[in-house]
Amino acid sequence: MNLPSLKEAKVRTNKEIKIINNDYIVPKSMKTIGKDKKYYIKTYGCQMNVHDTENIKAILEDMSFTETLDMGDADLILLNTCAIRENAHNKMFGFLGRVKHLKESKPNIICAICGCMAQEESVVNAIKLKYKWVDIVFGTHNLHKLPFILEESLKEKRQEIEVFSIEGDVYENIPVKRDSKYKAWVNIMYGCDKFCTYCIVPYTRGKQRSRLHKDIINEVETLVKDGYKEVTLLGQNVNAYGKDLKIDYTMSNLLEDVAKTGIDRIRFVTSHPWDFNDEMIDVIAKYKNIMPYIHLPLQSGSNRILKLMGRRYTKEEYIKLFNKIKEKIKGVSITTDIIVGFPGETLEDFNETLDVVNTCKFDSAFTFIFSPREGTPAANMKNNLTDEEKNNRLYMLNELVNKYALENNKKYLGKVVPVLLEDFSEKEGSLMGYTDTMKLVNVETDKKYLGKIVDIKITDVKTWSMDGKIDKKV
Ligand code: SAH
Ligand code: SF4
Ligand code: F3S
Repeated sequence: MNLPSLKEAKVRTNKEIKIINNDYIVPKSMKTIGKDKKYYIKTYGCQMNVHDTENIKAILEDMSFTETLDMGDADLILLNTCAIRENAHNKMFGFLGRVKHLKESKPNIICAICGCMAQEESVVNAIKLKYKWVDIVFGTHNLHKLPFILEESLKEKRQEIEVFSIEGDVYENIPVKRDSKYKAWVNIMYGCDKFCTYCIVPYTRGKQRSRLHKDIINEVETLVKDGYKEVTLLGQNVNAYGKDLKIDYTMSNLLEDVAKTGIDRIRFVTSHPWDFNDEMIDVIAKYKNIMPYIHLPLQSGSNRILKLMGRRYTKEEYIKLFNKIKEKIKGVSITTDIIVGFPGETLEDFNETLDVVNTCKFDSAFTFIFSPREGTPAANMKNNLTDEEKNNRLYMLNELVNKYALENNKKYLGKVVPVLLEDFSEKEGSLMGYTDTMKLVNVETDKKYLGKIVDIKITDVKTWSMDGKIDKKV
């Protein structure tokens, strides 16, 4: 048993990060353990978790399990959890209730918990004490060890908790079963060292560690050969890519090399404004296959709150960067993340956030009420607002964000834009996809266009999506 430790999760040393190429194996005894058995996996959280789930699926299939989308039909139920806000916690514990109910009639079901909540000391202690029926808990640093953890749990018939709070290494050669045939997630770095005072991620994902660029390029080249049209480079802080490798190779170099693989579309998330430099902007502007879309989290428009958050930029610096990006990258769309109700946020601070939204007129924004995360500095800062005040601020902010989202979308009306039609739409007889600027478009069309980048004429726009039709010239 290895339990997570909050104290250890905070540590950052100069220890060299190892690139480990041969740590993933399935022992012979486990190769057919899943024969005639099904797994069900539920994923919460960010793209990083979604991609981890793609790895976990491939690992399970290496053990002969097959996937089911019906939890009631599963022999193995996995929950890949997120810890970013309290509601993510509530969702998981709610879900566990349903699994427990199933287990009462089918006691042989194996229940496993992984992801960011599995890295939280208090959560795992609660599982150990009150959820003894949960069979396996494993963390974000050792998901590739799942075959061994499962083997141990089956052999010993006891709750198996294997979570490490180490700074972390980089594991290559973990298999992947991708959800899409057209667009792929590609990790370029793991962890985060920014330690924004409200955020749990540096504790749940460990130290920032970049993959070697040759491994990333190899992966993208394979995707191109396999017919993929789009890659999204993933990291909590992609602009800081390479800084930990102590070699002279940065995010702008990586973007340029990925662009040269010839893949049709390149995206990347997330960009911290702090590390966004001019070279990056120039490379994005230069290559047609790097999409003109940037997610640039603001968090707050008040310098006082930004300082308390540990974001290390001012509102003025943010706006300057925003304007530079808009100026240099033709037609770029920019979205953001904003937190309201951070401890000590006055009405004046909040109004400053609204001011920045009025200045930047974002294409869209994810907005959140501050949620205290145990172990982070902001969790100990004094809350000065009632829930009603926080909800009011969120409401006001959303109204403004939505107004600009619609205004921006209206500029697309009647225009012809390229869309990668990646899936069936919720609307009958339609496909859905995204413009290069990351606008969701529903297109009433034949499924023969699935997986293709097609010129679409925009016929209607809403706040969150657009409708379009195939442009006649195609
Ligand atoms: N690495 C990314 C953010 C990942 S988390 C970045 O720095 O841009 C995604 C978003 O969740 C954050 O941008 C922030 O707006 C929000 N968030 C993180 N911790 C939060 C908390 N404790 N309460 C409310 N929102 C939070
Ligand atoms: Fe969290 Fe800040 Fe790191 Fe983003 S940059 S993951 S908000 S600590
Ligand atoms: Fe959630 Fe972990 Fe992502 S906390 S947002 S799943 S890195």
